[in-house]
Amino acid sequence: MNNNVVITGASSGIGAALAEAFARKGYNLGLAARRVDKLEVLARELEDKYSIQVAITALDVQQDETVAPALSRLAQELGQIDIVVANAGITGVRRSGSGDISIDKQVFNTNVIGAIATLDAATKLFLAQGHGHLVGISSFSAFSPLPTSAAYSASKAALTNYMNAMRLELISKKIKVTVIHPGFIKTDIAPHMDKYPFVIEADEAAQQIVRAIAANKANVIIPALPWKAVKGLMALMPDPLLAMMFNKMMR
Ligand SMILES: NC(=O)c1ccc[n+]([C@@H]2O[C@H](COP(=O)([O-])OP(=O)(O)OC[C@H]3O[C@@H](n4cnc5c(N)ncnc54)[C@H](OP(=O)(O)O)[C@@H]3O)[C@@H](O)[C@H]2O)c1
Repeated sequence: MNNNVVITGASSGIGAALAEAFARKGYNLGLAARRVDKLEVLARELEDKYSIQVAITALDVQQDETVAPALSRLAQELGQIDIVVANAGITGVRRSGSGDISIDKQVFNTNVIGAIATLDAATKLFLAQGHGHLVGISSFSAFSPLPTSAAYSASKAALTNYMNAMRLELISKKIKVTVIHPGFIKTDIAPHMDKYPFVIEADEAAQQIVRAIAANKANVIIPALPWKAVKGLMALMPDPLLAMMFNKMMR
């Protein structure tokens, strides 16, 4: 039975909401993030509420060499891991030409290198046990790049492509690969998330993500509506119109 799930970036937002959504369905959890105090509180709450096992570990995915040992610790504590959700991620707003690319480096180190380290360590465990499900939390911006967030958008496009290549490679090994592309979800990732269009609560997003994983979807947009329609519309819009729309929204 596939009932042990590890989530990176589980200390807040979508990761914490995912932890609860899986717990509600009886999954045991392995939770990882830098803010262990938050993981401890969440773990006690979910253990008490749902009578499940929760293992936690401190993890900074930017320290990519520490990711595999962290997953091994969680696997040892839980017995095995059936699903790994590479969710840890950051945004970084930067104007092109500012002369300092340090924010872009942080974004790539977390969202691309950190996620790759997570997915690779998970794949090694899954190959050894003969099954597993890799899940990555990408973004709608993988399809529709955001001005002032070029690195973020590019990092998510990289994650999506990386995971879609993994799916083809691992198809014969009984390892499933699901890539999730959220629209705007109300979390702490950026200030004033409420101001963005079609924003939904993290709990609602988490329930939709768990359903997509259970259905073994390949690439999913969350929520599907209106974002699938927006994707189609945006493909038809000329750049000056897109720029005007985004620049107004990102102000
Ligand atoms: N909210 C949205 O509208 C939206 C839309 C599309 C995609 N996403 C994606 O959803 C994922 C979760 O974001 P969120 O919206 O839930 O934001 P959030 O509330 O800020 O959560 C981000 C999580 O990532 C963790 N994290 C950040 N850097 C980390 C690192 N170096 N090592 C380990 N953990 C790290 C944070 O934990 P610690 O700080 O404790 O380490 C936190 O638990 C991200 O990948 C984000 O890009 C969000």
